Amino acid sequence: MKRIIKNIKQLVQVEETPRKWVAGKDMAKLNCIDDAYLVINDNLIEDFGKMSDLKEIEGDVVEELDATGRLVFPSFCDSHTHLVYAGSREIEYIDKIKGLSYEEIAKRGGGILNSCERIREASEDELYESAYARIQEIASLGTGAVEIKSGYGLDVESELKMLRVIKRLKEDTPLTIKATFLGAHAVPKEYLGRQTEYVDYIINEMIPQVASEGLADYIDVFCDKGFFTVEDTDRMLNAGMKYGLRPKIHANELDYSGGIQVGVKYNALSVDHLEYVGDAEIEALKDSETMPTVLPGAAFFLNMPFSPVRKMMDAGLPVALASDFNPGSSPSGNMKFVMSLACVNYKMVTEEAINATTINTAYAMGVQEECGSIARGKKANLFITKEIPNIEYMPYAYGSNLIDLVILEGEVIE
Ligand code: NIG
Ligand code: FE
Repeated sequence: MKRIIKNIKQLVQVEETPRKWVAGKDMAKLNCIDDAYLVINDNLIEDFGKMSDLKEIEGDVVEELDATGRLVFPSFCDSHTHLVYAGSREIEYIDKIKGLSYEEIAKRGGGILNSCERIREASEDELYESAYARIQEIASLGTGAVEIKSGYGLDVESELKMLRVIKRLKEDTPLTIKATFLGAHAVPKEYLGRQTEYVDYIINEMIPQVASEGLADYIDVFCDKGFFTVEDTDRMLNAGMKYGLRPKIHANELDYSGGIQVGVKYNALSVDHLEYVGDAEIEALKDSETMPTVLPGAAFFLNMPFSPVRKMMDAGLPVALASDFNPGSSPSGNMKFVMSLACVNYKMVTEEAINATTINTAYAMGVQEECGSIARGKKANLFITKEIPNIEYMPYAYGSNLIDLVILEGEVIE
């Protein structure tokens, strides 16, 4: 079953030979085709090119779409979210406006521990329904692949409950989903003052059970000031490695925590947040297989210093941008808005922001062979914009929904 999109004003992020990631100066380059066509065969991209080169399509064409005046983008890949959660935390949002810091709110039992209480009370079905609605929302905003973390359960039963919800979302939705076990998100109240014992519990009970049920693709630790130390992180990543869980680390959001270095030591797929990055961190990332990932929505919402993205790119590193969709520090999974924040706050050009939210986030969640660009044989996960003048208009019109039609796995999403 084939679909063809004709008269595409511009086909964006095209790759003849898919790359692993885009780094340094190449981040400002973007391959696009003007006046293009695209052929979808079942759930895959079969072919594309200039309209003037379009030949007769072999086989049944079930639908022809006309994209005159409109652009086609590969779906965003959002490589860092916590979108399974219960309730919302707007009270803390007010506290923040009144001047309390993220750490102060956490110390008062707010923050992650607030969400923990609500997750423990919620049934698996309740969690599934609210997360499913969030998945539908981000799909309509152009996201086609998403990584989702546990980390609000903080005991075996509740962490497994969250991971089972993610498993159901993988089965029931057309998005490409990866699951990350984040038992080390915070120390739960029953372990207060006994952090090392909680780390032992994660190593001896949580990781083996999560692994035996095959519920996680990756393991994450919040390695930062006031949360888990480098030593804790080292122990947990080591334990995770024995079960084949590759790390993705929350690092250097609150301080020069050593999280980047310990992540690289364990060949993390990504290190995320990165507000505190100096020369030593950049050196550690060079020649590694770890994707530096910045979360502009969290920095915006928490009023944090901005990660030195330009310095990282000037050093030749790749940079990815994800939403961090969660109830505390980034209650939005809108990747188009993430692009706008990247351009305004991090002085990225549109091409850099597109590379950072597609190819590089695909790498950061381990799906670069199937998602992240318009390439033959990759999944037909893409969106058609409304009539817009150029790629720059996407981050420029920061509050407008410019998406006209979403296609995931080759099917039009209503
Ligand atoms: O990525 N920084 C750590 N964890 C989350 C916040 C989670 C929360 O506040 O609920 C983050 O920003
Ligand atoms: Fe996060």
